[in-house]
Amino acid sequence: MTILKNSEDIAKLREGGKNLAAVLSKVADMVSPGVRTIDLDIAAEKLIKNSKGRPSFKNYRTADDKVPYPASLCVSINEEVVHGIPGGRVLMEGDIVSLDAGMEYKGLYTDTAVTVPVGKVSEKASKIISAGRNALFQGIEAVKVGASVGDIGNAIQKYVEKSGFSVVRNLVGHGLGRKPHEDPEIPNWGQKGKGLKLPEGLVIAIEPMITAGRHDILLDKDMWTWKTKDGSLSSHFEHTILVTKEGAEIITRL
Ligand code: MF3
Ligand code: CO
Ligand code: CO
Repeated sequence: MTILKNSEDIAKLREGGKNLAAVLSKVADMVSPGVRTIDLDIAAEKLIKNSKGRPSFKNYRTADDKVPYPASLCVSINEEVVHGIPGGRVLMEGDIVSLDAGMEYKGLYTDTAVTVPVGKVSEKASKIISAGRNALFQGIEAVKVGASVGDIGNAIQKYVEKSGFSVVRNLVGHGLGRKPHEDPEIPNWGQKGKGLKLPEGLVIAIEPMITAGRHDILLDKDMWTWKTKDGSLSSHFEHTILVTKEGAEIITRL
């Protein structure tokens, strides 16, 4: 069942989304060689609390998760796709790092992610970052009242594959707002015209996860971190979006 948002919800989502975008941008600016991933998490948690929010990932678990997620920020490096757990690992020149943050603000949830380079990176690394960012915007452009979920996935998949990369299949975008994850699922692949027709007031997270090699991923023994099976690089970008008559409103815009 999809939950449509009323105008009060939307006002709160806009405020929260803008604050979360500022948090993510500040944390992304801290990325440089020598920084520990836990320092990024500590900063994210402080910034979220300073903007009167609650880090929604901390202690998060679904019925399928064996252990709760222990941090406020997901930090996924190189072949790690998503949900990397921050710790003592130090970022190295040439790495690419995906940062994913989620916040509850006045009872409403937003979620956003970026992938950034650490210092100077290879051409391949910088290409997978731009392809991931562009893929997200292709998906966002497909959004308007009456478009279908398949239109979003199709736009993303076409762009990603044309760029020589693969789309991860085991994980998807999602509705959100009253909860961190709601219906519907938003796959990053699919066929035009297929699936749910987007209604006005639907809030979704669009989040392409792409890889430089094959699309297969494996869950790490920490029970959270997803990695590419073939060890190839991966990038991840995410925005929380509101469906409007005109198109998509980006809730997690700066
Ligand atoms: N932010 C992730 C998503 O985009 C969910 C993270 S849940 C966590 O859906 F527990 F891993 F943090
Ligand atoms: Co996210
Ligand atoms: Co998400």
